[in-house]
Amino acid sequence: MDADAQKKASGEAAAQLVESGMVVGLGTGSTAAWFVKALAARKLDILGVPTSLATANLAESLGIRLGELGPVRSIDLTVDGADEIGPALALIKGGGAALLREKLVWEASKRCVVIADAEKRVAKLGKFPLPIEVVAFGHETTMLRICDALGECDLGIAPRLRVKDGVPVKTDNGNLIYDAACGRIEDPAALAAALKSVTGVVEHGLFLDLADVALVGTADGVVTLEP
Ligand code: A5P
Repeated sequence: MDADAQKKASGEAAAQLVESGMVVGLGTGSTAAWFVKALAARKLDILGVPTSLATANLAESLGIRLGELGPVRSIDLTVDGADEIGPALALIKGGGAALLREKLVWEASKRCVVIADAEKRVAKLGKFPLPIEVVAFGHETTMLRICDALGECDLGIAPRLRVKDGVPVKTDNGNLIYDAACGRIEDPAALAAALKSVTGVVEHGLFLDLADVALVGTADGVVTLEP
């Protein structure tokens, strides 16, 4: 099975966890898209809460009824992809720039299921550059403060502004993304706390103690992992 087939298999396995009547958080990215398609095919009576405009558009086009976090207070189950899955199901997310809405939805969920292909599993987080969402106002100054925070965690690196087609990427919330190529994150909790302490940082892509289970597509089928 290639990576895309593994993503599809994990998304389809996660769709089997959904029951009629549930409020379901809908993740963002290519793996989450497989989940949304498999969920729509089941034609259950559910309410979806999307984590991005892209996912909202996909789900709506497939006939899934949608609600918004806020009016919807509690979510039964959220299914979403990841960029890296480390020990204890600590994750890096945000490769698709949806980390803020994703984390808001995850934190409002009773149960969070991460879906991925086997390549996403790592012994230590950090090879995938860590996305950090910052407000646009004064972002160059915020970046310097982020460098200080990274330095406190023995990461002497400068994050790079995410640019696509020559222009800075804007999130669904109108913010910018800096990507920090950490290499190895020895203490994810300390790094998460250091980043959150920087004014201008809205959120970072470390998802710690949030995933309840991972369904990982492998050459031998879908493997279930617990923290
Ligand atoms: C979106 O911001 C991300 O958190 C995605 O969930 C993550 O990048 C995984 O994407 P793929 O499923 O496309 O690999």
